[in-house]
Amino acid sequence: MKKNLLMWDESIFKDMEVFEFDFVPGQFDFRGTQEQELAFQIQPALRGGRPMNTICRGLPGTGKTTSIRKLFAEIEEHTKKIFPVHINCQIDNTKFAIFSQIFRRLSGHLPPGSGTSFKQVFDGVCQLLAKEDTVLLVCLDDANYLTYEREINNVLYTLLRAHEAYPGIKIGVITVISDMSVDLMQMIDARVVSVFQPTDIYFPPYDEDEIKEILLQRVKEGFYPGVINDEMLALITEHTLKGGDLRVGIDLLKRAGLNAEKDARRSVERDDICRAYEVSKYLHLTATVHALRPEERALLYLIAERSHEENEMAAGKVHEAVKASSMKLGYTRFYEMVTKFDSMRLINLHYREGRGRTRLITLRYDPDRVIEEIDRC
Ligand SMILES: Nc1ncnc2c1ncn2[C@@H]1O[C@H](COP(=O)(O)OP(=O)(O)O)[C@@H](O)[C@H]1O
Ligand SMILES: [Mg+2]
Repeated sequence: MKKNLLMWDESIFKDMEVFEFDFVPGQFDFRGTQEQELAFQIQPALRGGRPMNTICRGLPGTGKTTSIRKLFAEIEEHTKKIFPVHINCQIDNTKFAIFSQIFRRLSGHLPPGSGTSFKQVFDGVCQLLAKEDTVLLVCLDDANYLTYEREINNVLYTLLRAHEAYPGIKIGVITVISDMSVDLMQMIDARVVSVFQPTDIYFPPYDEDEIKEILLQRVKEGFYPGVINDEMLALITEHTLKGGDLRVGIDLLKRAGLNAEKDARRSVERDDICRAYEVSKYLHLTATVHALRPEERALLYLIAERSHEENEMAAGKVHEAVKASSMKLGYTRFYEMVTKFDSMRLINLHYREGRGRTRLITLRYDPDRVIEEIDRC
């Protein structure tokens, strides 16, 4: 066999798990401020009080979930005074489902099956908290999924006023919002605002140097030395910036590595990355399309269809097409949605040079691929 070719039982991966999205990295830089602020929020609970409530805001892939997972792991390791529960609101998006999860974590088993009322689950949670004499810290991750039916009000109200039914009980909430167009405080009823009073923690997007540094750490943790050189890392960083989310870069590392292995090579080459990007570049698209509401998907669908004919389209013209379709959208709502697509990096919204102030919409992805993703929802 030629030198440098891999034997069957050899791998260029030192640890494959490093490239999973829920992997908590050994080194977690650039989020020190946010981590400190989060720790500060829970301080009162360590001294017998109620934790302060928090809203973490930032685009997908800015380290929100990881920061919270790290904090929760630390709490679990060091104290029994706080009981942290992480809820993924993409999966558990009703009050009943959320409280069932909390019950499961506290008791070690799910509440009895069908026929269990919400009140029984709620009472179960409060009784366990009282018995364990612990403060409950709930993270509602990607809580923008709870805003559709305004379920967020029900959930927050029940959590934050539980002490009225069960005096002595202490519950704090960390709410995570990845949709920058969602103004949570505007959606919340007055009855919830008075007990919520959250502190905002903002997670800004990483810049190019930060992305490169984070990916370099991942390379060191996940690959054997010499698998990815500086030039290849720069190429992956470039693609990550284009892809709009750090997850693209992490996925690229894994796929490019697998491509190299398939060819029994010991290092990643340009072509491995380019082929990997054809798959990885849609990660952000898939995740964001799934997070849209039905009417937003319908508008994106229309934009994708029009993109077949014109790459750049005037916003006014698109709205006319919307009006002519079965969608009933006023211009204000239409424009809100388009701005949201822009902030989610699904489209580019820009002014036409020179001629007046016409706003132009350009889809950032291949229209057929967008249509395919929407059809799959
Ligand atoms: N500062 C960082 N250092 C190392 N890895 C990071 C950092 N920030 C994010 N990541 C990685 O990027 C991916 C997305 O991070 P995540 O915390 O899930 O983002 P969010 O919850 O904001 O969408 C995860 O795989 C995570 O490990
Ligand atoms: Mg997250």
